Amino acid sequence: MKQGFLALILAAGKGTRFRSDKIKVLHPLAGKSMLRLVVDCVLGLKPQKVYVVVGNQKDEVKKDVSLRKVGFVTQQKQLGTAHAVLSAKNVLKKEMEKDVLVINADLPLLRPETLRPMLALHRKEGNSLTFLSAELENPTGFGRIIRDGDKIRIIEEKDATTSERKIKAINAGVYLFKIKDLLAALPKVSNKNKKGEYYLTDVHEILARQKKKVGVYTTKRAGEIFGVNSRYELAQAAEVLRQRKIKTLTEKGVTVNDPSTTWIDLDVNIGVDTTIHSSVIVEGNSIIGRQCQLYPFVHIIDSRLGNRVKILTSTMIEESTIKDDAQVGPFAHLRPNNVIWQKAKVGNFVEMKNTVFGRKSKAGHLSYLGDCDVEEEVNIGAGTITCNYDGKKKYKTFIKAGAFIGSGTELIAPLKIGKKAYIGAGSTITKDVSPGSLAVARSKQVEKRKKVRRTEKK
Ligand code: UD1
Ligand code: CA
Repeated sequence: MKQGFLALILAAGKGTRFRSDKIKVLHPLAGKSMLRLVVDCVLGLKPQKVYVVVGNQKDEVKKDVSLRKVGFVTQQKQLGTAHAVLSAKNVLKKEMEKDVLVINADLPLLRPETLRPMLALHRKEGNSLTFLSAELENPTGFGRIIRDGDKIRIIEEKDATTSERKIKAINAGVYLFKIKDLLAALPKVSNKNKKGEYYLTDVHEILARQKKKVGVYTTKRAGEIFGVNSRYELAQAAEVLRQRKIKTLTEKGVTVNDPSTTWIDLDVNIGVDTTIHSSVIVEGNSIIGRQCQLYPFVHIIDSRLGNRVKILTSTMIEESTIKDDAQVGPFAHLRPNNVIWQKAKVGNFVEMKNTVFGRKSKAGHLSYLGDCDVEEEVNIGAGTITCNYDGKKKYKTFIKAGAFIGSGTELIAPLKIGKKAYIGAGSTITKDVSPGSLAVARSKQVEKRKKVRRTEKK
């Protein structure tokens, strides 16, 4: 019999040990908040409904998971994990005959594959409570499992004796409860302990005393049982996710030359036969096509690259789209909102913002193109600058197909350069240029013979 279950993610705590203005579970790892990682793991188990218990910075927490299908319950004061679960009483009460998966929001490395057998065991044995455990080489920070005959209880680290602290079997912070038994046990939990909190882990002993069936599911994947309580642990967990992502990418046909210096966020997609050279960072929801080359020190954020795109050394690309066979860099900076069309080339020290750059157009060297609409096969000479901002407003520059902008040109927007127009080098262009014409706007060179004062001493 397959029965639906609810899920409850505990995310109301502050995470004092983080010493942060932002609550712990909102800190990101590999591009996803700790909370979103846990939400996605839980959603992978296909529960009937997921609730997140919120408290500290609850509006920010709600916003963080706004794209996920989850509900919220509020824990007004953070009096402990048992109290957090109790604050969901009203939603749990409606499903008395079902199970609930309760999970701490600070376990970012857990995978649904690891929890699925626990769910199966819980159902097969008909337990009132099944909780996740592992044998850890370093159990510091976790509650330890104390066995007394067939009775089980959890002792929190703060309340444990020195010898109890040596126990390696730990409580991971993931539980499956029969809702009916959980709700009956919760009011019996007291806060007489070192932290003065209502511990969810006291329910284990309460149920055992009531002769309810309490089971342990011990996973062999101990590496996934990693509670993040400090920023150092955040960095360690991020490192695990980084390596996982690189492994998955290589399995899907991406070449990663130097895994130890490559950071690719979890939500990034990369096509077959793309090569990532060393020290590359790809963040956010970026999509990289097939057979692309990302050379060293490339940094890409929320961008979309077609196939066979080359991004040369030390280039930064933000919120932009680059079509097939285009090339960008080295040392280029695409600020947000550019579209670089097929076979276009953007070269050394070129900055673009809010610009469409047409097919086969070229801007090889030292340019700034802002709020610019460049059609196909345009040549932008070295040192061309669009003057798009007068201190108050931004203005657009249109450059029609086949135009040639000579080196060192200033294009003062708003401006239209007609089809196949030709701008002489060193011009400051303030008026529209008609198609096919040559525009030159620079002061005439004067030459005064023998007027140079000799400064060299004899
Ligand atoms: C808890 C367990 C411990 C286990 C460990 C695994 C208890 C008493 N102890 O300890 O046995 O080994 O997790 O990671 O449960 N939270 C709330 N409201 C509160 C308090 C906490 O929502 O009032 C949330 C926190 O945001 C966090 C989670 O519950 O996501 C766990 O809280 P935390 O304080 O980190 O518990 P631990 O001390 O790590
Ligand atoms: Ca914790």
